[in-house]
Amino acid sequence: MTSGDIKLQKEYIQKIKEYIIEKNRPFYYYILTMGCQLNENDSEKICGMLEQMGYQKTDNTNIANLILFNTCCVRENAEEKLFGKLGESKEQKKKNGTIIAIGGCMMQEPHIVEKINKSYPYVDIIFGTHTLNKLPEDLYEAILKKATVRDILDIEGEVHEGIPIKRNDLKKASVTIMYGCNNFCSYCIVPYVRGRERSRKEEDILREVRELAEKGYKEITLLGQNVNSYMKEENKKTHSTITFASLLRKINKIDGIERIRFVSPHPKDFTDDVIEAIRDCEKVCKIIHLPLQSGSTEILKKMNRKYTKEQYLHLAEKMKKEIPDVVFSTDIIVGFPGETEEDFEDTLDVVRKLHFEQVFMFIYSRRKGTIADKMENQIPEETKHERFERLKKLVESQIQENNEKYVGTIQKVFVEGISKNNPEKMTGRTETNKVVIFDGNEKQIGTIINLKIVSEHMWYLKGET
Ligand code: 5AD
Ligand code: SF4
Repeated sequence: MTSGDIKLQKEYIQKIKEYIIEKNRPFYYYILTMGCQLNENDSEKICGMLEQMGYQKTDNTNIANLILFNTCCVRENAEEKLFGKLGESKEQKKKNGTIIAIGGCMMQEPHIVEKINKSYPYVDIIFGTHTLNKLPEDLYEAILKKATVRDILDIEGEVHEGIPIKRNDLKKASVTIMYGCNNFCSYCIVPYVRGRERSRKEEDILREVRELAEKGYKEITLLGQNVNSYMKEENKKTHSTITFASLLRKINKIDGIERIRFVSPHPKDFTDDVIEAIRDCEKVCKIIHLPLQSGSTEILKKMNRKYTKEQYLHLAEKMKKEIPDVVFSTDIIVGFPGETEEDFEDTLDVVRKLHFEQVFMFIYSRRKGTIADKMENQIPEETKHERFERLKKLVESQIQENNEKYVGTIQKVFVEGISKNNPEKMTGRTETNKVVIFDGNEKQIGTIINLKIVSEHMWYLKGET
């Protein structure tokens, strides 16, 4: 975004602010975010813009002047959820004249926008992933000109800097470092809705992290659809020496930041320099997300993942050798088209071998426009669910085994706040992302303390000072 574009959007923010002041009553917005951490980060920007306009956040759609859905389209269930919510908001619109806006990945799918236009024409604003920065202008048109706004761009988005941001947390923050994906895994819709890879400038990222450190943020999560290919495309043109590895090393030196995480990397981009940077940077958490998707070489080929089962296992072994005490988390899809019982066994085999700390398990979901959607041998729902349950059972037994290893150890725990399930206790996370519940006090929030792990309870550990 050029500085002129930012200036223009700031003018719209100001115009809406004046409108709200003139009305002399509170203006509320309700936002529902679906999907991944990147979408959460986009929503923080949406909230940042709205709050500069003078809107206040509410969880109550009945009093909201603006209802906004930030959508995801990675799996099908989000669609049903959105259409359900749209039905409900029709009533609110009728009663209160609420403005309804929908943005995010799903809005980049033409058949979805068509359906909304046909069946939910009362939706005031639709914006896509490349036009989030124009929300002030779109909102101005909808509120003051009563226009129906359809603001979706099909072309490559630019990298937008300077959008105000309202962070969800006071101590942990996400920083998007690159947008889009070039990989075209055959099951995945992301490359179609988020466009090609483009990286933010290193100086912009470092400035954002330094500012966060100055504000007291301690943990940073670097985000991207493919974080470890940061700058790869740009470097083809400019031959710069800036890479994901060099970025990690620079962020590691920023005073005040104590933990660095990153999601989501691709196994094919874990080059030696990245592995060495993880090893050398003491602030980089030694839990690495290594999305497997499938353990079968045959299926991996059909998925266009660009590695075999053996190469994946070899990479994990190499990382274990280089990085003391490293552990892994992963993503797995069950029921990809053509997945046989033997293919699924290969997936279970990798899970048995690597003892992941965390496994995000997904049932394959057909996505319109992707290569896999057109493949023969789609797996029956029943088989998919049955395999999912078998994988879940294995994963849960391993989590328990992994947890037992923690009992008796001293762990560095980042204190996050009061436990939601037990308000008498505090909650925090280990470097490996395990939840730890303990007796503490609110002054500890945002600090890293040593806790002795005294027992394990599947989804959390108990700690003592
Ligand atoms: N069906 C099921 N899971 C999917 N993912 C991406 N696309 C699909 C799909 N069509 C999963 C992958 C990815 C994670 C973010 O979502 O495991 O890593
Ligand atoms: Fe989708 Fe594959 Fe890109 Fe991840 S790497 S966003 S799974 S296409």
